[in-house]
Amino acid sequence: MCGIIARIGPDEAIPRVLTGLENLEYRGYDSAGVALQNGSGVSVVKCSGKVNDLKERVDGTHLDGNIGIGHTRWSTHGAPTDENAHPHTNEDGDIAVVHNGIIENHQSLRDKLEETGVRFRSDTDTEVIPHLLDHYYDADTDPHTAFVEAIQQLEGSFAVAAIFDDEDAVFAARRGSPLVMGLGEDQYFLASDVPAFLEYTDEVVYFEDGDVATVRPDGVDITTLEGEPVDREIDTVDWNPEETGKGGYEHYMLKEIDSQPTSLRNTIKGRISPSGDDVDVDAFDPETLSEFSEVQFVACGTSYHAALYGTTLLNEAGVRARTYRASEYQMASDPVTEETLVVSVTQSGETADTLGAMRRASREGATVLTVTNVMGSSAARAADETVYIHAGPEIGVAATKTFSSQTVTLALLAQRLAAHMSGEREHRDLEPALDALTSLPDDLGRMLEGDDAERIANRFLGSDAYFFIGRGLGYPVAKESALKFKEITYEHAEGFASGELKHGPLALVTPQTPVFAVFTGEHDEKTLKNAKEAQTRGAPIVAVAKEGHPAIEATDAHLPIPDTDPMWSGLLANVQLQLVSYHAANELGRSIDKPRNLAKSVTVE
Ligand code: F6R
Repeated sequence: MCGIIARIGPDEAIPRVLTGLENLEYRGYDSAGVALQNGSGVSVVKCSGKVNDLKERVDGTHLDGNIGIGHTRWSTHGAPTDENAHPHTNEDGDIAVVHNGIIENHQSLRDKLEETGVRFRSDTDTEVIPHLLDHYYDADTDPHTAFVEAIQQLEGSFAVAAIFDDEDAVFAARRGSPLVMGLGEDQYFLASDVPAFLEYTDEVVYFEDGDVATVRPDGVDITTLEGEPVDREIDTVDWNPEETGKGGYEHYMLKEIDSQPTSLRNTIKGRISPSGDDVDVDAFDPETLSEFSEVQFVACGTSYHAALYGTTLLNEAGVRARTYRASEYQMASDPVTEETLVVSVTQSGETADTLGAMRRASREGATVLTVTNVMGSSAARAADETVYIHAGPEIGVAATKTFSSQTVTLALLAQRLAAHMSGEREHRDLEPALDALTSLPDDLGRMLEGDDAERIANRFLGSDAYFFIGRGLGYPVAKESALKFKEITYEHAEGFASGELKHGPLALVTPQTPVFAVFTGEHDEKTLKNAKEAQTRGAPIVAVAKEGHPAIEATDAHLPIPDTDPMWSGLLANVQLQLVSYHAANELGRSIDKPRNLAKSVTVE
């Protein structure tokens, strides 16, 4: 949560800081602010609201300076007010700080600072930092020394950037929150994530925990907190700057749904031969794989649903696997041993609950593999092995294309694991499905040309609630579709295993609660029976099924998906249902890319 940016270069910083904030807004959108250093002082403009509100405020000011920092906030300590917006300053207003993370010892630091007479103006944990900087910066020190001393006092997680009115530099440090530097031709950026500056450079340096960076117009020094110089590699990111813009779409979410044929091609590229029998997921040699007795997935939200998909595939392929909600896994008493392979699934690679689950797994001796979209993310750093999904940047808060790329990556991983872990148990051969994978992006592209999802969304708008049911691989799709629907429409939606309807949820079913039933081509007769149980109670049933499917005749509406291997029908159904959520939310005038109360990267537990 929260996005920070800093930019230092030869010309005015403000346009680039504001663009960076717009590109980071998916991380939080309660309030925003900027601070500029122009050689003779520090100017701050900040407000509650979105980056657009900040831009309006900035328009009425004369902010100049080639060194700037900015922040977009998802509030943790203190309500989203003007006072609590970042940047925060010392009392004289000549030091300004932006911060992402949580300062756990902020209360004791605040008490001590207040005892020395410091007056605080906000309720945030962050405000201790500029006051600490002020405290340590005196005639005998310099800003860098003061910065290091202040950072040494902090407990918790942080990515921090600070500017001083009398020093042409940005000082930054990270521990537990993401921080990456962009190296432009004649300018430097620091940011929580690469999209903040991708249109200016694809050369990046990922900081490690404990790194302190001093960025000046003519160069960068990186040291440890103890002052030891450190070398960090320059990486080139393979994301395309166009992927971070809306590309003519009204919403990122629709653009990202529509881009799935391309993102899936990128996920598959180089990992599967045209015959479908050659899989390489960049991880593990076969010898190591055969040593695991069980796979445990840990993930949250949409990634959890992708992990459920992966678990089903692994179980069918003869591998013992379970999925855990990452937030519960840390307290779970289920055994984790050296024979356990723990697979964390996380788009951002920064989800605190998932990182916590990974820590538990490592502590107990398991091997940890992460499946993520973000190079250099905390998950990639913490894991023993990393598999990238290569979906490209996802800006819409509601995850769409990353779910599809996660499920495909997990299927490839399942094939790889099954080859060494299924043993003598009878199991499904995944190969035919992997053959079908090569045509999946085209199938998806054809499906996206239709307008069925919009028609269905409009037809059922105004219902009391929306239910989604599925069986086998249709079950994670039902859960995921309900999450997407509630997340962006704010309407009541639930996903159930179709067989569970009669064990309770059926009590909720009325003529005002459409039920979307996912037919994957497996267990469909039973799913249809469950759907009809709801239909008998008056609920309209939408069959998400291929053309010609027997369920179409027996139900009230049809949302078509292309004919493919049952392993991929769920993925296609999920995309159709992403579109239903999108069109319903659009019709209701919701804030689709930035749903209320949510943020894309959830870095608190
Ligand atoms: C839903 C959504 C969230 C995330 C969850 C985990 O659309 O985006 O439920 O899936 O917060 O995020 P990652 O995958 O970044 O760990």
